[in-house]
Amino acid sequence: METKTKKFKRDILNWYNNNKRDYSWRETNDPWKILLLETISQQTQLDRADIYFKLFIEEFPNPATMASSSLKKVLILWSGLGYNNRAKRLYESSKILSKNGFDELYPNFEVLPGVGPYTNNAILSFAYGEKVITRDVNVDRVFSRYFGLNDVENFVHNNKKPLLNGVSSRDLNQAIMDFGSMICKTKNPLCSTCVLEKNCEKNIVKIKKTQETFSGSNRELRGALLKLLLNENVASLETIQKNLKTDKVKLLKAVGTLEKDGLITIKKNNLVEINS
Ligand code: ADE
Repeated sequence: METKTKKFKRDILNWYNNNKRDYSWRETNDPWKILLLETISQQTQLDRADIYFKLFIEEFPNPATMASSSLKKVLILWSGLGYNNRAKRLYESSKILSKNGFDELYPNFEVLPGVGPYTNNAILSFAYGEKVITRDVNVDRVFSRYFGLNDVENFVHNNKKPLLNGVSSRDLNQAIMDFGSMICKTKNPLCSTCVLEKNCEKNIVKIKKTQETFSGSNRELRGALLKLLLNENVASLETIQKNLKTDKVKLLKAVGTLEKDGLITIKKNNLVEINS
C-alpha cells in the first residue's frame, strides 16, 4: 500500500510541476546566490525579493565583490527591505567567505553571521543537493496540518529517509514552501480546491500573531534614522530628532540598538555617524 508520505510527495510534486513560481534563482546551485536570496527573502514577499536579488547579484556576483565594497554601499542597495542588521551580517559573511569559501565551511555554514539552521539547510539542499528538509514556518505548517502533528521537528527527524528518498530535495523543499504560501496559507487556507485535501488530517490550529506593529515601533524609527544617515553620513541627535519628529527616549533606543548592531557609531558632541 502506498504510504501517506509517498502520497504526500507525489501530490505535492505534481502540484509544484504545474504551479511553481518562476523565479530567477530557482535553478541556481551557487551557494552565494542562495545565501543572498534567503537573506533577502526573510520577511519579504518573493516577488519583491526577486527584484532585490537581481540587483544584488549584478552588483555583487560573488563574496569577494561584496567584501571589497563598503557596508554603506550594501545598505544603500538594501534600502526598502528593512531589518538592516541583516545587510550588515551579510556583509560580514562576505568578508569571511572571501577568505574561506563555502566548500571549506561545508556543511557548517552557521559560522556565518545571520545563518541559522534554516539557511544552513537551504544552502545544503539547494546548492549541494543534500537530503535535508528546510524547515521554516510555512513548511512546518504544511507538515503539521497534513500529517496531524504537534511536533514537526520530531517527525522530520524520524522521517528524513521516507520523505526524501527518490526525490530531489531542492524540488521537494521548494514545492512545500510554495504550497505553504499559495495554498496551505496561515489564514484562509484554500482547502476546497486543494489537491492534497483527500489525505490531509486538516490539523488547522489558530496561530497567534506575535510580531509588533510596525507603526511607531523601534524598527520603524531605526529604518528612518538609517535612511537619513545614508544621505547625510553624520548628523547630530538634535537634527535627527527634529527631522524624524520623535521623542528623545525613542530616539536614544533606536540609536543604541543601531550602534549595538554595528551599523552606526555615536561620536563626540552628540553626533551620530553611519559606519562605512
Ligand atoms: N522562501 C525562501 N526561499 C524559498 C524558496 N527557495 N522557494 C520558495 N519560497 C522560499
